[in-house]
Amino acid sequence: PAPPVTLVIFGATGDLTRRLLMPALINMTRLGLADDGLRILGVGLDAMDAEGLRHALESFAAPAGGEGATERGEAWAALRPRIDYLQGDFTADAVYESLVERLGPDRNAAFYLAVPPRFFGDIVDKLAEHGLMAESDRRFRRVAIEKPFGHDLESARALNARILKQVAERQVYRIDHFLGKETVQNILTLRFANTMIERLWNSDAIDHVQITAAETVDVGTRGGFYDPTGALRDMVPNHLFQLLAMVAMEPPNSFDAEAIRDEKGKALRAVRVYDAEEARTNGVRGQYAGGAVAGHPVTAYRSADGVAPDSRTETFVALKLMVDTWRWAGVPFYLRTGKAMAVRDTEVVVVFKPVPLLQFAAARGASLPSNQLVIQIQPDEGMSMEMVIKRPGLEVATAPVSLDFHYADRFRIAALTGYETLLYDLFTGDQTLFQRADAIEAGWAAVQPFLDLWAQGEPEPYAAGGTGPESADALMRRDGREWHELA
Ligand code: BG6
Repeated sequence: PAPPVTLVIFGATGDLTRRLLMPALINMTRLGLADDGLRILGVGLDAMDAEGLRHALESFAAPAGGEGATERGEAWAALRPRIDYLQGDFTADAVYESLVERLGPDRNAAFYLAVPPRFFGDIVDKLAEHGLMAESDRRFRRVAIEKPFGHDLESARALNARILKQVAERQVYRIDHFLGKETVQNILTLRFANTMIERLWNSDAIDHVQITAAETVDVGTRGGFYDPTGALRDMVPNHLFQLLAMVAMEPPNSFDAEAIRDEKGKALRAVRVYDAEEARTNGVRGQYAGGAVAGHPVTAYRSADGVAPDSRTETFVALKLMVDTWRWAGVPFYLRTGKAMAVRDTEVVVVFKPVPLLQFAAARGASLPSNQLVIQIQPDEGMSMEMVIKRPGLEVATAPVSLDFHYADRFRIAALTGYETLLYDLFTGDQTLFQRADAIEAGWAAVQPFLDLWAQGEPEPYAAGGTGPESADALMRRDGREWHELA
């Protein structure tokens, strides 16, 4: 189990705490990753007491029925009495004075900022001013910060500078929940534990890379957050760039947090920062119009709650990026993400170059499908390798086949949220799966030209339930390539 620690959650009555943190804490208790040394102290504006917070969290922590309900119930019974509540305004000193008192001098604490981003800087300032971030050999003090970390390069830099004035980088845990996903972590194992992969992992053998995060969900009730944010900020410099970094990074010197983060930072800094003209030719933005996703009608983005009726916010992005390193010279990375699309599919597709010469009579003059490694992040976690074989029979004819691996066939995958590993690492002090300041800033630097460009003009409409706007396909066609089919 993790060492004794108090998890202080700012925003304890919010959506993130209910939907993700509580279920993760229950799973950790169930799996023995947290024991009775764990205390939870919720901080929020709502007028209630500890019992009120416990009650508010109960149905999320231990939903009745379903698989594992008994174990969850037991874990909840153990965790429940260790939940406490502190009512107050995050910007007022009184809250921090109470925290000093409640935590005492020797208690380890992790402050989790599950609050709107405008509070990040204020809370860290106050924590530091009240001595709450000071560490000693008897206690650690850490702060976990949710996304979005900044809304452009300048604001991300300013926020990093403000935070790092108060606390050391080793105390800061910037969350990107994609890094909690098993299949995302597996990319490094796949690359660095398999000779046949890593030896081909460069521009000699690889034609291009595609990174896709297609979602069926639409903006739903998140209009207030999403409309000023958009798909680019919401998904690209963070989640998609984490995948890009895992694919593009050089082998680290060790599997230490800093060694891995050094290499990821270098890979992200190598993403070419476009000028305005390059951004115009290498980026596509779309916004969903009405349509149907899996048979359910979806109304246009502009008519959603909290969205301006003339909103120019993009709900889809496709980018062609270059990673300027020796390994990746000339190998484009195509990224796309969108809401209200035909299927939910997060994947990395590595498309290999064609063989230099086709000797088969039957195939002469024809082209064979390329080898492709498809790393399926979610759903149906796994991977497949597309290859070409001889079709059985007297003639030499070829057929494409797929070598498939599905996690679920081989392992029992625990139904986890992804936050279990992140919280455990926060408590044990392992920063590998968290974003360092330099990586965050490199991500923003690479998308900034698109943000600047898209401050004007309109996104291209696409039908809800489709695969995105026509220009996204044209972006590929122009290069003689096509998107991997969403499945
Ligand atoms: C969040 C975004 O960070 O990631 C959401 O704010 C998005 O808009 C979500 O839906 C996607 O994460 P996942 O784990 O559902 O693929």
